[in-house]
Amino acid sequence: MQKIIIDTDPGQDDAVAILLALASPELQVLGITCVAGNVPLPLTTLNARKICELAGRTDIEIFAGCDAPIKRKLITAEHVHGKTGLDGIELPAPTMPLQDQHAVDFIIETLRAAQDHEITLCPLGPLTNIATALTRAPDIAIKIKQIVLMGGAYFEVGNITPTAEFNIYVDPEAAEIVFKSGIDLVVLPLDATHKVLTTRARMDRIKALNTQIAQAVISWTDFFERFDMEKYGSDGAPLHDPCVIAYLLQPDIFTGRYINVEIETQSQLTLGMTVADWWGVSGRKANATFMGDVRADAFYELLTQRLSQL
Ligand code: RIB
Ligand code: CA
Repeated sequence: MQKIIIDTDPGQDDAVAILLALASPELQVLGITCVAGNVPLPLTTLNARKICELAGRTDIEIFAGCDAPIKRKLITAEHVHGKTGLDGIELPAPTMPLQDQHAVDFIIETLRAAQDHEITLCPLGPLTNIATALTRAPDIAIKIKQIVLMGGAYFEVGNITPTAEFNIYVDPEAAEIVFKSGIDLVVLPLDATHKVLTTRARMDRIKALNTQIAQAVISWTDFFERFDMEKYGSDGAPLHDPCVIAYLLQPDIFTGRYINVEIETQSQLTLGMTVADWWGVSGRKANATFMGDVRADAFYELLTQRLSQL
């Protein structure tokens, strides 16, 4: 059983990732920590509660974290996710509570109580909570088994600017702290996530499950995919965040390289770029396993099978 903390800014794709994690007995979700990103913090926490309630998991502890990047103004993505951040099916107002403890304190306290290298952190949004915890309590680093995050891009370049992926762009200083932490990092960048498109055939198989969960997932992807389909002219949109959970469950469907990845924090033009030394030309020390490819059909096979269990 892998002990994980999901740090998230739901977000339709975050929602599917959370459902995939809750449907997988290999994973013990110790808590869900919310961060400002796709939409402001009050909405990401509300959405996380709606998602857990939809999954019948009111036992999951949900925490509110940082409501803005470490040193910059928050940039959100309502243009992709809608004004609620979870546009699609109308879900009832949640009854499950939001925990009183701040997400960063939860992360620190949980890690301090753990064994060395015991807990995997799964950031699905800007890295503000993770970086704040590492800065406030450097002693927790040894307790982290891996940080498996969705963020960055190399061959796919940017999705919010010509050179930056959204999660990194929102808080590049936080990303720099995480990427320089020396912690075992696995990065699921756009290079991988752009290969798991919500094609009609794949979504029809999920729809055929004919469950409330499947209906919710389809309503979210129907809404979420229009932005990318208009922009890229693709058949479907990338289902970014579930790639993090799929990696935990079936790492061998992903391929990548252990390389140096550094974050641009100074240039206005390329702020938030993940400078991935894919070809090993920089001589800089490798610090991350950066995924470049994924077996998309295997990914959707896994996702559909697990959603059928919820
Ligand atoms: O760039 C894609 C990432 O930004 C995903 O995590 C999506 O949810 C948004 O947060
Ligand atoms: Ca996200």
